[in-house]
Amino acid sequence: MFREVEGVILRLGLPARIFATMLKLLPGRIGDRMWRWWYQRLAKAKAWGEFGFMNYGYIDDHPPYLSSEDESDRLFIQLYHMNIRDVELDEKQVLEVGSGRGGGAHWIARTYTPGSLVALDYSAAAVKLCSRMYGRQENLSFIEGNAMKLPFEENSFDVVYNVESSHCYSDMDAFIDEAYRVLKPGGYFAWTDFRDAKTIQQIQKSFSSSNFEVIKDINITKEVLAALDEISDDKQARIEKGTGRIIRRSFETFAGVRGTPVYDAFTKGELGYYRYLLKK
Ligand SMILES: C[S@@+](CC[C@H](N)C(=O)[O-])C[C@H]1O[C@@H](n2cnc3c(N)ncnc32)[C@H](O)[C@@H]1O
Repeated sequence: MFREVEGVILRLGLPARIFATMLKLLPGRIGDRMWRWWYQRLAKAKAWGEFGFMNYGYIDDHPPYLSSEDESDRLFIQLYHMNIRDVELDEKQVLEVGSGRGGGAHWIARTYTPGSLVALDYSAAAVKLCSRMYGRQENLSFIEGNAMKLPFEENSFDVVYNVESSHCYSDMDAFIDEAYRVLKPGGYFAWTDFRDAKTIQQIQKSFSSSNFEVIKDINITKEVLAALDEISDDKQARIEKGTGRIIRRSFETFAGVRGTPVYDAFTKGELGYYRYLLKK
C-alpha cells in the first residue's frame, strides 16, 4: 500500500509537505505505519550512504573530545552526548529506543563501555544496515521492535535513552510506561526530541504524573537550531547528490535544511527541542 502512496506523492509533486503532514495529520496506527515506511525508505537512500545519524545535531558549549574518525559526525554525536551526559554508563545494561542508522549507539558503546547496549528500531531495514555497519562492536546489538511495546522483561536495564525518535510514536504515554517497566529501580530514562508547543505541554504533564522522578527539564531549541544552521549547506549538497529532483524537497524538509518548513517552524518558535532526564 505504501508503495502506491509513494507513487502518488511523487506524481503529485507534494514532497515538501510530506514531513509536516506525517507529523500533524497522521496520528494513531496509520501514522506509525507511515513513519515505518519512511524510515525503511531512508535506510536504503543513497543520500545517506554509510552515514550513521539522522538527527538535527547540537552545538555544545562544553563539547566532548572526539577521535578524528568521529569528527565529521560531531554535531550529531553532541546531541547524543548532551542527552546522556549526566548518566553513568560504564558496565551498565543500556537500551537505546529508536536507534536509526546506529551511529549514536556505536559511539556510545565504544566511548562509555556499557556492559551491553541493545539498540532497537522499528525499521527492519535500519536494523539490517546497522548490523552490517557496526556488527563487530562486541557490547552492541541491534534489534527490531516497537517503542510502545518493548520486547523485554521488566527491570531489565539500568539506562534507557531515546534521541529524536518519539515524535513518530502514536502513543507517547505507552512509550513512557514501557520505558518505566523495562528499567530497574533507580534506573534512568534520558529523552530528547522536538514538539510543537501544545504537544510538549501534554508530554510535560505525562512525565510529571508518571512514576518517574523528573531530574532535568531543559529547552535546547537554541543549540539545535544553531546546529541546523551550521550543517545546512553540507546536508543540502549531500541530498542534491544522492536523490532525484522530485523527492529532494521532502528529504531537505526532513533534514531541517534552511528555508524548509521544519527549519522555519523552529525559527518561529512553532517547534521546540527538549531534553528530559527521569529516574525510576
Ligand atoms: C529521526 S530518526 C533518529 C534516529 C537516531 N536516534 C539518530 O539520532 O540518528 C527516528 C528513528 O525512530 C525510529 N522509530 C519510529 N517509530 C518507532 C517506534 N514505534 N519504535 C521504535 N523506533 C521507531 C525510526 O525508524 C527512525 O529510525
